[in-house]
Amino acid sequence: MGGIFAAVSISKKNVAPIIRSALEKMLFRGSDCAGIATAFEGKLFIKKDRGSVKEVHAKLNLDDLPGYIGVGQTRFATHGRPHVDNAHPLTDCSGMLAIVGDGAVENYEELRDDVAYRGHNVVSRCDFEIVAHMLEDELRSRGSLIEAVRNVVKVLKGFYSFAVLDARKEIIVGYTSKQPLYLCLGEDLIVLSSTKSSLVDLCKKYVQIDGGEMAVLTTTGFDVLDAGTGKSIKKDMKSLDVPPDLADKDGYPHHMLREIYEVPYALLRTISTIQKKYLALAARLLTTARNVFIIADGTSLHAGFVASYYFAELANLSPIVVSAAEFPLYYVENVGPGTVVIAISQSGETGDVLRSVYEAKLRGATILGITNYIGSRLAQFSNLYLPIAAGPELAVPATKTFTSTLALLYMLALRCAQDLGKISGSEFVEKVEKLRSFADTLIEAIPSIDSKASEAAQAIAKCRSGYVISRGITYPIAMEGALKLKETAYMHAEGMEAGEFLHGPVVLVEPGFFTIFIIPVESVAAKATYPLIASSAEKGATVVTIGFYGDPALREVPGIVIEVPACERHLAPIATVVPLQLVAYRLGVLRGCPIDSPKYLRKAVT
Ligand code: AGP
Repeated sequence: MGGIFAAVSISKKNVAPIIRSALEKMLFRGSDCAGIATAFEGKLFIKKDRGSVKEVHAKLNLDDLPGYIGVGQTRFATHGRPHVDNAHPLTDCSGMLAIVGDGAVENYEELRDDVAYRGHNVVSRCDFEIVAHMLEDELRSRGSLIEAVRNVVKVLKGFYSFAVLDARKEIIVGYTSKQPLYLCLGEDLIVLSSTKSSLVDLCKKYVQIDGGEMAVLTTTGFDVLDAGTGKSIKKDMKSLDVPPDLADKDGYPHHMLREIYEVPYALLRTISTIQKKYLALAARLLTTARNVFIIADGTSLHAGFVASYYFAELANLSPIVVSAAEFPLYYVENVGPGTVVIAISQSGETGDVLRSVYEAKLRGATILGITNYIGSRLAQFSNLYLPIAAGPELAVPATKTFTSTLALLYMLALRCAQDLGKISGSEFVEKVEKLRSFADTLIEAIPSIDSKASEAAQAIAKCRSGYVISRGITYPIAMEGALKLKETAYMHAEGMEAGEFLHGPVVLVEPGFFTIFIIPVESVAAKATYPLIASSAEKGATVVTIGFYGDPALREVPGIVIEVPACERHLAPIATVVPLQLVAYRLGVLRGCPIDSPKYLRKAVT
């Protein structure tokens, strides 16, 4: 996945420098690899390598590619490690097609087998190379790139978009399955981009290409087509609303806010990226293990705690979840052959995690790495790794990597349940589809959650300290919410198990103290929570409650109520953490905190 960009110069100027400069503006979409392909006099020219756009340009001089039509990508590695072979643009066997992609083709494994069986020379580990070979076959029989794309996307599944250049015909066709692409006509240029902010300085108006639509770019103009019918669609021109000074954050004031708004899209990316083969292998390791540990730090540790509920409830597995800082001091003595250690680290570079992995491997354990960066040391040191595939996360407070880690661990627990005969294959598919449709619902819900979170932040700003309280599967979310408030808003908060609240902690509840309750999804625990909310309000605390749409009891609750979409109980941790992330963000802004780079913290504590 990554940021993709395509350009055509009407007055026949070289487009490579324009593509290179646009890719430099979308580093928040990925910087593991970069590359550009152009067409000139019927030939395809490509330069690409591992590294950021700047690094690849310094090494190869991307600007001197000839041609007035081209495509480029800045890559976030998910299929295939950061390596020149896996850098986009990727080509077909004829060397005439160049494709750049974003997102993931979910049925990649089956399609790769088909394409290899038909005799294609597959050189990368990337899903979009397979699309190039499929288009090559279609072009041979149909002759038109537009028709080839229309036919190929009928068989592709997943959350993805791409732009493909045919050097012979000097035409680019772009397609998206869901996340919009942006098309614009500048003074001399027609461009198509995955990232609206890359259009700053190039045009003032754009056309949005939505799911199921195609954009066609040639030297004579552009067209937007419905991929299903093949007919032209009339689209409205919209004014570009990205302030130039916020272009590096895609128009948002902070990366953290952008990344919270990306949570649902990141979930869809995670679902589409997971490969069946590796999920099955990981499940087999866990279901046959002598004992299982989950090790991680900070937010990743909280994801591990949620996962212990998933594994216990869905697959009767009881992993021991422990801080990676603590693991070598005690638990490592129980590690030996037959032990599986699930090591979670979005960065893949956290020192404690790597140290624990090293100690566990010395004793014969098998390491299952869960990381967002497949070029990281954790991925290298693991026997098997699963990519979180949330896309780059630049803000130090982790948000979308946390929710995507939960989605990945949920799917892993479901796969274990399937292996153990506790659910059927079709139930597995059904649950994953529910996760996918929940992500869709969340896209719509985030703006209203955000406005309520702003209200809550205003109220909490007057407090000196507080608790985030829940029970059951959302108890780890209370801990995560408290961590977000501390690091993002410099507000002291403690994550509290609701059953423990009356065993001492309640004495601190008074005016100037806040209590954020997450209504538990376990009904017995939910019933016991409402009286705690009422009594906190009676004691004069600022009260905020996070609950689910359609819960009539929420109408009686005092203070501020933030409602989130109702969902399967295993998805409640994802649903309820988003408002906490937004409260922490809005409070941090009110308190003038350096949101993306809190003091003393780094993205990876090495
Ligand atoms: C998350 O918001 C924090 N910045 C921090 O706790 C982080 O989760 C922890 O350092 C672990 O990082 P990792 O997932 O990259 O290993």
